[in-house]
Amino acid sequence: MEKPVYILGIESSCDDTSASVICNAKVLSNVVANQEIHSKYGGVVPELASRAHQQNIVPVVQQALEQAKISKKDLTAIAFTRGPGLMGSLLVGTSFAKSLALGLQIPLIDVNHMQAHILSHFIEEENSKIPPFPFICLTISGGHTQIVKVTNHFEMEILGETIDDAVGEAFDKSAKILGLPYPGGPLIDKYAKLGNPKAFPFTKPKVGDLDFSFSGLKTGILYFVQKQVKLNPNFIEENLNDICASIQYTIVEILMNKLKNAVKQTGIKHIAIAGGVSANSEIRERLKLAEKHFGWTTYIPKFEYTTDNAAMIAITGYLKFLNNNYSDVSITAKARLKVTE
Ligand code: KG4
Ligand code: ZN
Repeated sequence: MEKPVYILGIESSCDDTSASVICNAKVLSNVVANQEIHSKYGGVVPELASRAHQQNIVPVVQQALEQAKISKKDLTAIAFTRGPGLMGSLLVGTSFAKSLALGLQIPLIDVNHMQAHILSHFIEEENSKIPPFPFICLTISGGHTQIVKVTNHFEMEILGETIDDAVGEAFDKSAKILGLPYPGGPLIDKYAKLGNPKAFPFTKPKVGDLDFSFSGLKTGILYFVQKQVKLNPNFIEENLNDICASIQYTIVEILMNKLKNAVKQTGIKHIAIAGGVSANSEIRERLKLAEKHFGWTTYIPKFEYTTDNAAMIAITGYLKFLNNNYSDVSITAKARLKVTE
């Protein structure tokens, strides 16, 4: 029998410090330290994020090894997020990964964070459904909104993307307008469950077939709320559930319509979602229904693999390891990196 491959994945691209150990394609541990500090600033403060990564990285990696019940000497290789992300945050994970790989004299593997969100679908678990090639992935996060055609693990093509804000930003900025703390996406999801999605109609943007635009929607929501608050200062408190349900409904409608266009154009009916916004309960539900209504086969990641996590970095590292695709220690972090790079 072949020796098992143990990969330590390290993720530090934004405001979550995470480490994960996998054995081949199975996750042994996936530790995520969220940085609460940004909540009171209404968004991620890069300077504070990199400082918090510095504090968190050693204990998070130690915990990941402990939970996986292995010692660092058992590791086969170290995978880390090279980009895209905040430079100060990326530097912490990159430098840590390099030093550890050098110290242990094992291979170092750089990972593209956006590819990793997509490749989280290749983590093997009980009842896991692995998408066959080619498939379409709707990657929706705080920084990105893309429709990607995935032809192979590392052969991807962007079919459409946002021309302004990412969908996660649309959630977070709308939440901010409503006075909710950062990140507001999960809170909109929570209140939306209790509201009427048709209460307040918001205008959907008009952009190319597979492209997205969310900045107009955000402005529309801002003007609408300002106008209503002038008429009734308690408008937000009295209608929070309905406002959240209406915002979420509009955003999910936009996403579903673009997916339908992508299926029409490509003929591909294997549809995956990935990224932080794929934690949203409505998009998950609508995709499940699409299996029945449109005959799609859909791939919805487990909750812990939606928002930023190191298990997705480790699985991508494992797939690269199988191709002997290692990095040189002179490699540098990159704040801007396309999913195809
Ligand atoms: O992938 P991710 O953790 O980080 C980036 O790479 O950007 O995505 C974070 C984004 C945030 O905008 C957050 O509000 C959003 O994902 N998010 C949600 C939900 N959970 C996280 N948006 C809507 N509904 C949710 N349940
Ligand atoms: Zn992400």
